[in-house]
Amino acid sequence: MPTKAVITGWGKCVPPVELTNADLEKLSDTNDQWIVERTGIKSRRISHVDGTDLAELAGRRALAAADMEPEDLDLILVASTTPDLICPSVAAMVQERLGAVNCAAFDLNAACSGFIYATANAAGMIESGFVKKALVIGAEKLHGVMDYRDRSTSVLFGDGAGAAVYEAVEGEAGVLAVDLGADGSKGHTMVLKSMGTNGNVFNSLPPEEMALHFEGQAVFKIAVQGIAASVTRVLENTGFSTEDVDVVIPHQANARIVDAATRLLKVDEEKVFSNIENLGNTGAASIPMAISDALDSNRIKPGDIVVLSAFGGGVTWGSIVMRWGERTERLKLHDGELPPTDAGVFEILEPNLRFFAELHGLDPDAPIT
Ligand SMILES: CC(C)(COP(=O)(O)OP(=O)(O)OC[C@H]1O[C@@H](n2cnc3c(N)ncnc32)[C@H](O)[C@@H]1OP(=O)(O)O)[C@@H](O)C(=O)NCCC(=O)NCCS
Repeated sequence: MPTKAVITGWGKCVPPVELTNADLEKLSDTNDQWIVERTGIKSRRISHVDGTDLAELAGRRALAAADMEPEDLDLILVASTTPDLICPSVAAMVQERLGAVNCAAFDLNAACSGFIYATANAAGMIESGFVKKALVIGAEKLHGVMDYRDRSTSVLFGDGAGAAVYEAVEGEAGVLAVDLGADGSKGHTMVLKSMGTNGNVFNSLPPEEMALHFEGQAVFKIAVQGIAASVTRVLENTGFSTEDVDVVIPHQANARIVDAATRLLKVDEEKVFSNIENLGNTGAASIPMAISDALDSNRIKPGDIVVLSAFGGGVTWGSIVMRWGERTERLKLHDGELPPTDAGVFEILEPNLRFFAELHGLDPDAPIT
């Protein structure tokens, strides 16, 4: 029997403070109807703590679900476009906090495709025998790099983290096929010059260069084509058709991107999982958070064929076909929580609003009404 990488634990960390469409209406010329129609998003979360805190808690929850001790891990791999710092990596900081003293740790950046790339790495190491137990985390604090008065980007993104424990298991379940790709010639469509959310973000460059540069329409088209082509290729590698697929968990970029790709692929839309409405696009965190939510809502059954697919900056894309294992229930629950906060959403966004105010000819001290 071949050894495969099977998800045995899962978890997510959703920060408590919400940024609703009504809040965004106070910051730019946008409205709830436009945002919901064009993106499917009603609200997103804004983290009052570091991205590493989100990663750590999602990781602890995934370890509890697998009933695994941190010392048993061989690898911690974090996918993030918004690490606290470039070095040390989020993975190394999580490793220290968990006390996962027997494992390797590194970060990987493939933007919104990060969790797919990270899973492909972990699965490859498991199949080759280098690693037996891996904790793969997607974590983002995207709000740290947002100009909330730029309506073309601010409505899309949110913060959060999701995690999965992969274990070496002999049998039919686990990662069956991977399709990864990139096209650096289109990299200019999504550019982020930040040096880490706790790095010298606001002093290293002027505001006009710091904001996320994003060509929405171009990205939209590339994403739809890219996801559809990648899923087609990865299914061909397994010999499955779209009929054989039980659940599709796409990167939650935009409900319309997912709908358009679903139509191109001719996948029954009831098989496609979505949780974008209240989380927004959480970058590399979106797929592991969606896996956790899909399990909690009984959308994944033992033995199901599950397809993960993502598209992101770089540009990068990737898809994975896996056969789910025997268990869809957590073995244990981790009862830790993030530290509570009384901060309102505009308090948390204050550094962003202040930094980017001059770009919009606004007084940085003007109250938000
Ligand atoms: C960003 C995005 C939602 C914009 O949607 P769209 O349908 O392409 O909208 P357009 O950019 O064509 O803009 C249409 C109009 O709405 C306006 N508009 C843009 N953002 C707006 C907002 N937040 N609120 C209100 N109006 C807005 C535009 O100015 C434009 O007005 P005009 O017709 O008067 O010029 C969409 O392009 C998208 O989702 N792109 C990919 C995003 C993504 O998820 N990327 C990450 C991949 S990992």
